[in-house]
Amino acid sequence: MPLPKAELHLHIEGTLEPELAFALAARNGVTLPFKDTEELRRAYDFRDLQSFLDLYYGLMAVLRTEDDFAELADAYLTRAAAQGVRHAEIFFDPQAHTARGVPIGTVIEGLATALDAAERRHGVSTRLIMCFLRDQSADSALETLESAKPHLHRITAVGLDSAEAGNPPSKFREVYEAAAALGLRKVAHAGEEGPAAYVREALDVLGVERIDHGLRCMEDPELVERLARERVPLTLCPLSNLRLRVIDLLEEHPLARMMDAGLFCTVNSDDPAYFGGYVGDTFHAVREALGLSEDRLRELARNSFEASFLEDDEERRAR
Ligand code: ADE
Ligand code: ZN
Repeated sequence: MPLPKAELHLHIEGTLEPELAFALAARNGVTLPFKDTEELRRAYDFRDLQSFLDLYYGLMAVLRTEDDFAELADAYLTRAAAQGVRHAEIFFDPQAHTARGVPIGTVIEGLATALDAAERRHGVSTRLIMCFLRDQSADSALETLESAKPHLHRITAVGLDSAEAGNPPSKFREVYEAAAALGLRKVAHAGEEGPAAYVREALDVLGVERIDHGLRCMEDPELVERLARERVPLTLCPLSNLRLRVIDLLEEHPLARMMDAGLFCTVNSDDPAYFGGYVGDTFHAVREALGLSEDRLRELARNSFEASFLEDDEERRAR
């Protein structure tokens, strides 16, 4: 029996497996610049975050209809449930789809179909987190929030992702304020490739409740002390860090040191179709590479529920 856990850092577009990408391409008459799934997989050799994002946004061309988004999410939830996921808080990137002419309603309603069925089909509860692309303008983020208004009952929180360096959290102050006024919760990617200062900004300027990644806080001892004191959850993604070359070897991942420093850590898969493993695989990989004890693994699983947006009674049922 896999350890019951929640997944809090998962981009639904990052669960697009090569086989599904080719099936959707055929269905939608999209030509991919790869001969077959093997050639596509061989391209998953990333230098950094940007080289991954270039391929990732390109492959999204196959996602066009509500059914496509529903199929994508159902495939993820099936795999996640098999690896012990009882609750998933799922990111999606509306701008990556609206820019291609796919309406935001198609994305949200398609995902919602799979999420609504997930409890019954897979025993998994879910939340949706709408991310703004930080390499797009602040105005584009505001327009995205506006266009999401008819669907807000489907959305729990807003997030911030895409190319981090040079796109500080403060660029999105206004849209985060507007999101909070609409009753949305707040998270943001920070300290993945960007500096520790972006983690501070995400907390102080955007008022986020969790930091996605946050790895580079380790370069700032005062920040580490604050994150530990305030029990700010960090949604770490060790296999992502390895594949995007934030670290050279999994054995060098700071997860164990971060837990020793009292940080509130969770372990997640980020973009599992691209980074070599779903969250159960990630738990397995860090246990092997870092020699984490069973107690430490149980602590990570417990943290994932505690850091989630579930209410207390829902949290007890999910564990
Ligand atoms: N979008 C999908 N995966 C991401 C990551 N690891 N960092 C920033 N944006 C992303
Ligand atoms: Zn991410």
